[in-house]
Amino acid sequence: MNENYVIQNTQLYVKNILESEGSGHDWFHIERVTKTAVTIAEKENANLFVCELAALLHDIADEKICGDEQKGLGIVREWLSLQEVPENTIDHVLQIISKMSFKGGNNLPLKSLEGKIVQDADRLDAIGAIGIARCFVYSGAKGQLIYDPALKPRAEMTNEEYRKGKSTAVNHFYEKLLKLKGLMNTKEGKRLADERHLFMENFLKQFYKEWNGTQ
Ligand code: ADP
Ligand code: NI
Repeated sequence: MNENYVIQNTQLYVKNILESEGSGHDWFHIERVTKTAVTIAEKENANLFVCELAALLHDIADEKICGDEQKGLGIVREWLSLQEVPENTIDHVLQIISKMSFKGGNNLPLKSLEGKIVQDADRLDAIGAIGIARCFVYSGAKGQLIYDPALKPRAEMTNEEYRKGKSTAVNHFYEKLLKLKGLMNTKEGKRLADERHLFMENFLKQFYKEWNGTQ
């Protein structure tokens, strides 16, 4: 097995599946998460091959994409076996992506350093300038308003409410995006999150000034 070759093949494989995906898990999301995971992995002296593979494949087993998570994980295993990736590496990659694809309720930290890194990279893509852009695109696609001062952010919510309840793009900052900085696993992830977090806070300050006509 040649690691570079496996990475190249997997890039093409994932690109092909996600090219027509329209729920915010497009190929460019995967590409950004993979680059960020590699950046963090280099700083944290983690296994680059595992981080890169897991980042590339992290959304493939998502039920939104393949209908059924167990089936999706089976497909990923089959793909990696076909590439002659060693069994223990396949197990590690699958362990990471199965934990990551649990939505809402399951916020258990990932066990391995590589898992922590890929989760940090995925979370970083939800904050900062890119995170703001994704939030507004998602809101627009769901028909949500930019902001509604009468609609207060929800403090506690079930997974169902998180997905279906009425909210706004700006509320999503309080319901999720501003919480992510405190959930980062790695030192480098935290450092990157700090800058992106500050950018969102400044964005909100400017937003309210413009909203109130005071700027
Ligand atoms: P992931 O699977 O990458 O953890 P989601 O599928 O929950 O994230 O969301 C994809 C993107 O859409 C993220 O950037 C997220 O912040 C944004 N998003 C999710 N739910 C909402 C919402 N209710 N309002 C605005 N943006 C949202
Ligand atoms: Ni993702």
